[in-house]
Amino acid sequence: MEEVIATENLSKKYGELWAVKNLSLKVFSGEIFGFLGPNGAGKTTTIRILTTLTKPTSGRAWVGGFDVVEKPEKVREIIGVMQQHMSLDRDLTVRENMELRARLHHFAASERKKRITELLEYVGLTEHADRTIDELSGGLQRRAMIACSLIHKPKLLFLDEPTVGLDAHTRRRMWDLIRRLNADGVTIFLTTHYIEEAEALCHRVGILHEGQLIALDKPFELRRKIGLFAVVTVIENGNASYKYFPDKTAVAQYVQSLPSTVKTIVVRESNLEDVFLELTGRGVGD
Ligand SMILES: Nc1ncnc2c1ncn2[C@@H]1O[C@H](COP(=O)(O)OP(=O)(O)O)[C@@H](O)[C@H]1O
Ligand SMILES: [Mg+2]
Repeated sequence: MEEVIATENLSKKYGELWAVKNLSLKVFSGEIFGFLGPNGAGKTTTIRILTTLTKPTSGRAWVGGFDVVEKPEKVREIIGVMQQHMSLDRDLTVRENMELRARLHHFAASERKKRITELLEYVGLTEHADRTIDELSGGLQRRAMIACSLIHKPKLLFLDEPTVGLDAHTRRRMWDLIRRLNADGVTIFLTTHYIEEAEALCHRVGILHEGQLIALDKPFELRRKIGLFAVVTVIENGNASYKYFPDKTAVAQYVQSLPSTVKTIVVRESNLEDVFLELTGRGVGD
């Protein structure tokens, strides 16, 4: 497997705060890799370093084999980035924004038109091409941002919270687009604070907590390590308590052993929220 991202003890300090601390990871060609963590965990800072928008305080990172500090222009050639916040000109149309990007990448006029037409179709924006960004819904704005980031056919795409604020239906359509891109050969590095998004979309997930990587594996493996089944119990007037078990036999034994003070018992499959809770003592949404 070809390594498209590698970091070694990557760190970024703002004042006294380590936004990212000793991050070491690898992302391989063909993956949808997800960075899961609550607000302030350091996700955007990591993306900003990897996409050459800011420099690390210490440690190193390579994208496509190029050191992000030493060869930023090489890195920029091979990556596409969709930033967390609107990065397009709101007063321009989708097509005009794409035109601008294409010019930045030195496309010839004829080539430019062809590429834009093809991309508009790909992301499903053909009939919205001549509307301004401001006139589009949140979901369509995200599509326009993705289209712009794909102009130069990058093999690696960074998506910073691609579905934040979108309704469930629009979010699922965005997942379909991300999966389609990935099936067409684009490696994806995305960040999210949505558990279901990481579980549904990502081949591997890194869990980030206060700037540090506290776990990294396939979603199923992360769940397996804590236990595939969760039992939530509540005693009268008490808080919920969580316990995890590898199989249903272990769950049944535990449930039978519970005292009568337990008023509520919920048995369900574990999820990445449970993984985060077990590792940090807090929920991703807290
Ligand atoms: N330019 C900056 N100056 C000072 N602090 C920053 C800056 N950017 C981010 N931070 C801080 O670094 C931490 C990580 O932020 P960020 O990477 O944006 O997290 P996330 O994207 O996971 O929400 C936060 O505590 C944030 O306030
Ligand atoms: Mg962020």
